[in-house]
Amino acid sequence: MEQYIIKGGHPLVGEVEIGGAKNAALAILVAAIMTDETVLIDNLPDVSDINVMLEAISEIGAMVQRIDRHTVRINASTVKNVSIDYDSMKKIRGSYYFLGALLGKYHRAEVPLPGGCNIGSRPIDQHLKGFRALGAEVTIESGMVIAEAEELKCSHIFFDVVSVGATINVMMAAAMAEGKTILENVAKEPHVVDVANFLNSMGANIKGAGTDVIRIKGVPRLHKTEYSIIPDQIEAGTFMFAAAATKGDVTVLNVIPKHLEATTAKLIEMGCEVEEFDDAVRVVAKDRLKSTHVKTLPYPGYPTDMQPQIGVTMALSEGTSVITESIFENRFKYLDELSRMGANVKIEGNTAIIAGVERLSGARVGAPDLRAGAALVIAGMATEGITIVDDIIYIQRGYERFDEKLRGIGAMIELVSSEKEIQKFKLKVG
Ligand code: EPZ
Repeated sequence: MEQYIIKGGHPLVGEVEIGGAKNAALAILVAAIMTDETVLIDNLPDVSDINVMLEAISEIGAMVQRIDRHTVRINASTVKNVSIDYDSMKKIRGSYYFLGALLGKYHRAEVPLPGGCNIGSRPIDQHLKGFRALGAEVTIESGMVIAEAEELKCSHIFFDVVSVGATINVMMAAAMAEGKTILENVAKEPHVVDVANFLNSMGANIKGAGTDVIRIKGVPRLHKTEYSIIPDQIEAGTFMFAAAATKGDVTVLNVIPKHLEATTAKLIEMGCEVEEFDDAVRVVAKDRLKSTHVKTLPYPGYPTDMQPQIGVTMALSEGTSVITESIFENRFKYLDELSRMGANVKIEGNTAIIAGVERLSGARVGAPDLRAGAALVIAGMATEGITIVDDIIYIQRGYERFDEKLRGIGAMIELVSSEKEIQKFKLKVG
């Protein structure tokens, strides 16, 4: 089993290149099957979630050609199957995007119901509400969602919950539904906008993505395109907090500063200096940071995917901080691991109270999920001594070359898979 081993206690300094947004890429790759012409997509992150999704796309019969680590060519004219297998869904929750893409193009889709995951129950009722509103008959039979429609008709849909997945999924189906569809109470994340821009580059007619109301005029077919994925705001924010927690000086390159505003605001509140450039952001933390309060909210509020990263930084800040996690019901598990490193934390429902301590101590911890795993690596780098993070497969789902990029800014971190390699690292770092 692979682990990260870290010797922490020194500042991270330097520049790090940010990759393409995983959560935009997952939806865009599936949306690429909505045309029979060839689609070229670049700036893909080379992470396991993307590679699993590409396998699922080829499994339904599409041609998938990897040009390089970050570029793929897809042609779905050979798609024969509108049923996604259970294994694909188990491996990647984003498989639910096949519902919107297959329903939009073929008027039929069979996709396993995604289960919950480590951060919450993750229902998809809003997705199904949207498809039904567009005229699809949606049934659930032995764990499969079967959606089919004679034809998809426009509708006026008001989501009960702001959902990234439901907004994107229903937007995809509506892109090829007859007439004008209006979506309200939608998610406004940058990756929602990226999917809308991608679909428009294929000939869709979608307006208002990134605002509270999305207006879609359905088109009968979509055409070829070449498209580049936006930078990953969550990967960028993760490195920004790594700089903050280690009292470092790190510049994240190839980002869109506007997408990072909520993260930047919190870092400044905690005492960091943040400098914005056209496509880069520099974070400098000289002294011990100050406590703050944060509540996770849909974009443009503070992102839930950045909650563990601020949590571990708060653990070392001066004073008592409070986190309110308003999106997912089970996203504090990493705090139990952090307590084993000496953090002073109290969890009450969806609120965590974190009393900052002077220092943490290295320990062996387990990554409970993708973002929490990355946050525990940050904790290890901010802590004197040796920390070992288990279950890094979660981290590799969403962070490309995470340890390599961290070494590039001075982290003493290695990927190990045996006791012997652990001992070798300990001898090397002294
Ligand atoms: C996306 O998940 C992201 N995943 C998540 O990132 C991210 O945390 C989340 O959006 C919120 O930003 C991908 O894009 C692949 P939601 P998604 O639908 O779409 C409830 C990561 O670390 N809800 O916006 O599944 C739901 O339970 C991952 O990269 C319903 O009630 O999230 C949650 O409480 C983790 N009914 C809230 O809405 C529905 O039909 C937001 O979920 C759908 C959602």
